[in-house]
Amino acid sequence: MRILLIVGGGIAAYKSLELIRLLRKSGIEVRVILTAAGAQFVTPLSLSALTGNPVCSDLFSLTDEAEMGHIQLSRAADLVVVAPATADLMAKAANGLANDLASTVLLATDKPVLMAPAMNVRMWENAATQRNLATLKGDGVSMIGPHDGDMACGEFGPGRMAEPAEIHAAILAGQATTPKPLAGRRAIVTAGPTIEPLDPVRYLTNRSSGKQGFAIASALAKRGAQVTLVAGPVALPTPAGVSRVDVETAQDMLAACQAALPADLAVCVAAVADWRPAQIAPRKTKKVSGNGSPVIHLTENPDILMALSRGDNRPTLVVGFAAETDNVEAYAQAKLIRKGCDWIIANDVSIAETMGGDHNAVSIVTTKGIERWTRLDKSEVADRLADRMAESLT
Ligand code: C5P
Repeated sequence: MRILLIVGGGIAAYKSLELIRLLRKSGIEVRVILTAAGAQFVTPLSLSALTGNPVCSDLFSLTDEAEMGHIQLSRAADLVVVAPATADLMAKAANGLANDLASTVLLATDKPVLMAPAMNVRMWENAATQRNLATLKGDGVSMIGPHDGDMACGEFGPGRMAEPAEIHAAILAGQATTPKPLAGRRAIVTAGPTIEPLDPVRYLTNRSSGKQGFAIASALAKRGAQVTLVAGPVALPTPAGVSRVDVETAQDMLAACQAALPADLAVCVAAVADWRPAQIAPRKTKKVSGNGSPVIHLTENPDILMALSRGDNRPTLVVGFAAETDNVEAYAQAKLIRKGCDWIIANDVSIAETMGGDHNAVSIVTTKGIERWTRLDKSEVADRLADRMAESLT
């Protein structure tokens, strides 16, 4: 794979050095365009030493043009990565300006483009930048980050460039090179368990790892969807290009899903606790000898899948999961009708590795029938499902 990396002028430019190192380690050929502002932060010498290639920065340089013209520069790459993508570079690309080498190449390229924005939080939140972001996404540009965090300017908020390891992983996962049939579509994905508190220190929960839901969120984002991932407590990194809302209880998960409406697609993968303690003790329940064991009264949780399927603003395609230990497909059929969703992805959790593991054997249950898939990696299940969902929405 060959990458053309455009390094813009921001303090995050130093991270592009680490990105190059990671890409080279994976056997990826990297050529760099350094903007004039970028050259204030990193030197052409470091970039060319790390890439093993000369660095291009001048649109009108006779030597650069003789060696590799600017059109050729973009054509010779499989992917164009802009890191850091400054507010200025985003504005130029969104509006088709071509007044330096970087912007000219962005206008001339017919290759997928991945941008890793980095800027001051107010610049990021400014209506002009958000407009440019929407335009670029609509034009099929993939985005990674920015993330919340402390900024070099002393402020806190969204604007920190995604870490090199995250950008590297997104490139290897094909985030920018995958076709984007879901561009302009909004998706909600629920994932992980919910936890239902008994008192400030104890709770009820289940063994869901969140892996399948996170893989689906990632697969949908890779195909261009604007994904809100509503996640219960899990130890998983946020997939590239996904906006994540962390929740704990089923009630919070429902509220977060409803706040994310309208959407074209909802995929409920979360293992939502069916019941929650009817009362949450305000203080830790004490063990008092001679008082016996406390009795926990449970009350039913809202059914998020059913609420989305039957509610106002129903997404066009609503997909649920069914984790069963026996009679998997018959129960899935019944669930499809009871909950009012369009598809149920049934899996047999009596197979020890399904819950928490990396593989899944699923059946797709729709009103038209049942299709059984063999045991696959969870990311492969996610990719195939995302392709199906894209097909069904177009
Ligand atoms: O009824 P059951 O829990 O087996 O249904 C599983 C499907 O319903 C999954 O898609 C799960 O995410 C969803 N669900 C939900 N809210 C609940 C219970 C289940 O969204 N309270």
